[in-house]
This record gives sequence, C-alpha cells and structure tokens, in this order.
Amino acid sequence: MKLSVLLCLCALSAALCGCDKVTGLVNPPANDHAAPDVPKEFPAVSFPSDNPFTAAKAELGRHLFYDKRLSKDFSTSCGSCHQSQQGFADGSKFSHGFAGLMTTRNSMSLVNVAYNKSFFWDGGVVSLEVQALAPLTAQNEMNMNTDSLVRRIENIEAYQPLFAAAWGDGTVSLDRITKSLATFERKLISGQSSFDQWNRGNTSAISASATRGAELFFGEKGDCFHCHQSYNFTDNQFHSNALDSLPADDGRYRITGAGSDKGLFRTPTLRNIELTAPYMHDGRFATLHEVVRHYNSGGKPHVNRDVLMRPLGLSDSETDDLVAFLKSLTDTAFISDTTLQSPWK
Ligand code: HEC
Ligand code: HEC
Repeated sequence: MKLSVLLCLCALSAALCGCDKVTGLVNPPANDHAAPDVPKEFPAVSFPSDNPFTAAKAELGRHLFYDKRLSKDFSTSCGSCHQSQQGFADGSKFSHGFAGLMTTRNSMSLVNVAYNKSFFWDGGVVSLEVQALAPLTAQNEMNMNTDSLVRRIENIEAYQPLFAAAWGDGTVSLDRITKSLATFERKLISGQSSFDQWNRGNTSAISASATRGAELFFGEKGDCFHCHQSYNFTDNQFHSNALDSLPADDGRYRITGAGSDKGLFRTPTLRNIELTAPYMHDGRFATLHEVVRHYNSGGKPHVNRDVLMRPLGLSDSETDDLVAFLKSLTDTAFISDTTLQSPWK
C-alpha cells in the first residue's frame, strides 16, 4: 500500500515538473528493510550483504518476474514456467520457452528457494542473483541479449518509478535486474500447510490417512525423511534415487566431473508437491502414486544408487497414506497470496 502511494506521488511530481524521467526521489518507507516474516520453525532468511532486503526491491522484482517483455519475442516471463498456482513450477514435463523451444529438464518449484544451498537439479549455480541470468539468456527460455534487455526495460515508463523506489534512481542495469528478481524470489516462503498446523499441535488439521502417511514418511519403513528432511524437506544434498540404470542425464556429474556424481540430483523440497506434477528432473512420473510406487520398488540398480534405496514393502493402503501425507504439504494461503502473483493487469 505504502509503495503504491509513493508511486502515485512520484508520477504526480513527474507530471507537475514535466520531467520525463523520475530520478532520486524517494526515501524508502521506515519498515522497508524489514525482512519478510517466516514460520517459527524456519530460520530467518539470510540476504547477501551486497543485496539486502527492501520491500521496494522485491516489488520491482515481482514486476520483472511476471513481465514477458523480458524475453526476446515477448512470449515468456519467469512466471510462465514458475506459476504460483502450480507451486511456482509448471504443469509440463518440459517447458515451452522462446519460439516454442523446450527446456531439457522439468521446471523446478521456487518454494523456499531462499534456503537453497545451490540451484538447479544439478546444483550448478550457487546464488539466486547469478541464477537469473541463465533463463534470461538461454536460447530455449527467454533468449535475451543482456544489452537489449537493459535498453528494453529503460524504455518502459512503468519501470522508472519502480527502479527509483528500489535503487534511489531510475537507472536500469543488469545487476539491478538480477538482484531485484532474487529479492522477490526470497519472499516465496511457504510454511502454512495443513501439515504445519498439525505439526504445531492441531491434531485434526490432517486426515487419519495423512497421519499414518506422516508416520511412514518420518519412520524407518518409508524412510523418506533422511533425504527430504527438516523444515524444507530437503538435505540440500545430491543422491541417486535409482530412477535409471543408464541415466540419460548425468546430473551432478555435469558440474563436478566426478564419477561418483553420475546420475545424482539435488533433493527437492516437497512443499506444495501436490501442485508441481509431473515429477523428477525429467518429469517422468505424472502422479504422486507413481512416485511412491517407484520408491516402494526400491528403484533400478546403479553404481551410485543411494544405500537408502531398497524395496519398502508398502501395501496399497500405505501407499495411499503416504500420498495423503504429501498432499497435506499444500499451502493454500501461500498459493493464493496475491502479493506474490503478477502485478500486471
Ligand atoms: C522456459 C521455462 C523457464 C523460464 C522462462 C524460467 N525458468 Fe526457471 N527453471 C526452469 C527449469 C526447466 C529449471 C530447472 C533447470 C535445470 O535444473 O537445469 C528452472 C530452475 C529455476 C531455479 C532453480 C530452483 C532451485 O530450487 O534450484 C530458479 C531459482 C529459477 N528457475 C528462477 C527463474 C527466474 C528468476 C526466471 C526468469 C528470469 C526463470 N526461472 C525463467 C524453467 C524456466
Ligand atoms: C536417497 C535420498 C532420497 C530418499 C530416501 C527419498 N528421496 Fe525423494 N527425491 C530424492 C531426489 C534426489 C529426488 C530428485 C531425483 C531426480 O529428479 O532425479 C527426489 C524426488 C522426489 C519427488 C519428486 C519431487 C519433484 O519436485 O519432482 C518426490 C515426490 C519424492 N522424492 C518423494 C519421496 C518419498 C515419498 C520418499 C520416501 C518413500 C522419498 N522421496 C525418499 C531423494 C530421496
């Protein structure tokens, strides 16, 4: 609210003084630096020292995130492949980018990316600021030349007050674009699912079936929690969960070149997993039942197959229970939070 008031004032003062460019105009509101609230089980989000949180920067980032003009042919925004209604992933096995070209991996959920130790299925990038450059410039995603990107945004009037509020003046630069995108992404915090209510003591927040599923998930029988652990359901490590004997995608090996990393992928969060189908780095499983059946089988032999992968002996009703538990990780408040959705009309 405060920001929009400021923006109106800026536009007004620009109109009054006849300036075509608004510069150096605002002091951020007093609480602008207050980092977003996180659930009590979560650590505070740590913001890089060269990119501290401000609400104005996150708001600029939100506009950029949902703007198709950031792609060469005006076809694709970050939000095209990371849709709030789908847990900030998309519903496709592979995603359509520039000129209808396809990505070679399944789009990832951006839920709680603020806590990631690395990014991408293979962990090939270690900061959100750097990560943003990849889709902006990749031929099969947004295919933008970075100079043209800066020029294009300079020429969109709506961005002048947003850059001014976030950065003190209206200058557009690649550094400011990627830092603003990263600041918005660090606001994508999800921790208010029915599982969380249950975990805080509301025993009726999830069904009896989901409760049995939780016991399987966090117990030795299902054994999911060793890899999908803690508040974000990930150990931030790389494993082979035994999808293939001959993986078509070498995963972590592409980054490290170490034989022991062949076929390893980063453990993804399971928050909002119900919404992010299809599953795995190549979107091979259409449903959560297929995923659980894979784990129940113990998977395929592979030299780097994780020692935790073994047949689980789950019955059909235990499989249903585990799926019911996974669905209890859907956070409807997060998904319907309009402050995380597109600001464009
Ligand atoms: C054409 C679809 C597409 C577009 C457009 C796109 N992404 Fe992605 N995104 C993906 C795919 C696919 C992956 C996984 C890629 C991989 O692991 O190799 C991914 C991964 C990510 C990740 C890593 C998440 C994690 O947990 O490691 C982040 C962060 C991200 N994208 C942010 C963005 C931002 C910011 C933009 C806009 C500048 C954007 N994406 C545009 C498809 C897309
Ligand atoms: C050895 C570690 C490990 C164990 C044990 C494990 N997982 Fe996973 N899980 C992973 C990794 C790694 C991936 C990503 C693999 C890939 O895409 O190639 C994954 C992917 C998933 C996905 C798909 C996520 C997505 O965004 O597409 C689901 C759902 C899942 N696991 C659920 C479970 C359940 C349920 C259990 C217990 C029955 C379990 N996992 C046990 C490591 C593990």
